[in-house]
Parts: sequence; structure tokens; C-alpha cells
Amino acid sequence: PLVTTGELIAGASTEGRALAAFNVITLEHAEAIATGAEEAGAAAVLQVSENAVKFHGGNVLAIAAAAAAVARASSAPLSLHLDHVVSVELLHSAHEAGFSSAMFDASKMTYDENVKATAEAVRWGHQRGIWIEAELGKVGGKEGEAPLDAHTPGVRTDPQEAATYVADTGVDALAVAVGSSHAMTERTASLDHELIAQLRDAVPVPLVLHGSSGVPDEEIRRAAAAGMVKINVGTALNTAFSGAVRAYLDAHPGTVDPRKYIAPGRDAMAATVAHFLRTVG
Ligand code: G3H
Ligand code: ZN
Repeated sequence: PLVTTGELIAGASTEGRALAAFNVITLEHAEAIATGAEEAGAAAVLQVSENAVKFHGGNVLAIAAAAAAVARASSAPLSLHLDHVVSVELLHSAHEAGFSSAMFDASKMTYDENVKATAEAVRWGHQRGIWIEAELGKVGGKEGEAPLDAHTPGVRTDPQEAATYVADTGVDALAVAVGSSHAMTERTASLDHELIAQLRDAVPVPLVLHGSSGVPDEEIRRAAAAGMVKINVGTALNTAFSGAVRAYLDAHPGTVDPRKYIAPGRDAMAATVAHFLRTVG
């Protein structure tokens, strides 16, 4: 069924476990996430990023409706989240498009601008029952960005600043920079577990880990045990999908029907989703 992100997060927080969120680019991503969640017997978040909306020509209603229909038909509890929103106009379409939550990404702004814009996004969201996540610090590797050295001072989230930021903006959850980076195709990131513990103590709302595709299973388990509540996974699905499609086309070079190669790609994504859900939960 289609449920809200707020209720999934609340359930995970009270039970002291984490919730995995997976990026949806195509209809098949949504189908694979539902299948993986059913296999693992777990809930999950279907998240559509601003970049994915751009890929669909800006037609947020089309991709959101597809993901929502998949969630409604599934036996697993699935919610719809709008991810890495920079455009206020897109944020304001979240409610009509059926998203119960959004991540407002003001991480490129100065601290003061970020607080002002995020507080405004929270005010807007809460008037409509939309749960709002924001980011403080910089998780590198976003589309169109030069790779960021996660060890550069000032990149990671400062616990005291994070506490002040949450109080000043009223956000429901906070994405933090603790050593992960977006778009990694190898699982070689190492997290700062001491910083995660400090953030957990200082910040009164659930913490979110971005760029989890590059984080080894054991590090994800430790982060979840230490209080990281939402674990975002995107690239790992695409790595699985593309590998399976490439293998199929290499083995069957005469193929023209896309269903022939998309099906193994979708199966590979579902297996990856089930794996991450078992790791997290
Ligand atoms: O918001 C989405 C996630 O941070 C996904 O990151 O593609 O590196 O797993 P990833
Ligand atoms: Zn992210």
C-alpha cells in the first residue's frame, strides 16, 4: 500500500531500526523496489529526485503517478518522497503530485540563506502535512559537481551547528555529511562513526545518510545501530541494472525488443533492493 514517509520514519525510530529509501528514475525502478521490499518483508521509500524529474522533461506528475500506482498495488508499505529539491516551484508541486515528503536541498547556499529558505520550505510543507528533510554540511558527488574530498575540513556536519539549524528551521529530519559521497560505484566509503554518535546526541530529529551505495554493508549496519534512521540508496540500483542489461545484450546482440533486456535489469535491481533492506533492517 501507499503510506506516508512520516509514518514509516516514526515506526522505524520507535523500533530503533533504519528505513531504506531508493531512487526511482524509471517505472521499472519503482517496480523493482516494490518487488525487493515484498521479498525482504520490509517497508521502503520510493524517492524521485529533481534530476529524475528533469529526465522526464519536467513532468513530475507522470513519474509520481507511476510510482504511486506501483506502491498502491504492492503488499509492502511504500511511501513517495521528492528528493534533492532545489527548485521551490518543484517543491510546491509535491502535494499535488502525491508526495508525502520532500528533501529541500539548500546545501549550496550560505548558512544564513540555507536557514531562511529551509524554514520557509518547512512552513509550506507543514501547512500541507508534508514531512521535510534538509541537508547541512555537504555530501559530495551530486550530479554536475566535481567530486568532493570527504576529508576536507568544513565538509562534514558540525554537531552544534546541526542542533541550532534544526531548532531554527523546524525540519523533520536532517541529512548529514559523515564520510559518504554520492554516485560511488564501489563500496569503499568509510564513515565517521564517532561523528554519527555526536550528531545523534546533539540532533533531536532522525538523521539521514545519503550516498549509501558506496558504503559497505557492515558500515551501514553500524550507522543504523548508532541512530541513522533513513538510508538513501540510488547508484547501486543503476549499477545492477546496467550490468544485467549489458550482459544480456552482449549474449544476445540481435535483440530489439526492450522487454528482453529490461526484465533482467529490473530483476537485478529488485535483488539489490532486497539485499539493502536486509542489511538495514
Ligand atoms: O538521495 C539519494 C541518495 O543519496 C543516493 O546516493 O546514488 O550514491 O546511493 P547514491
Ligand atoms: Zn542524496
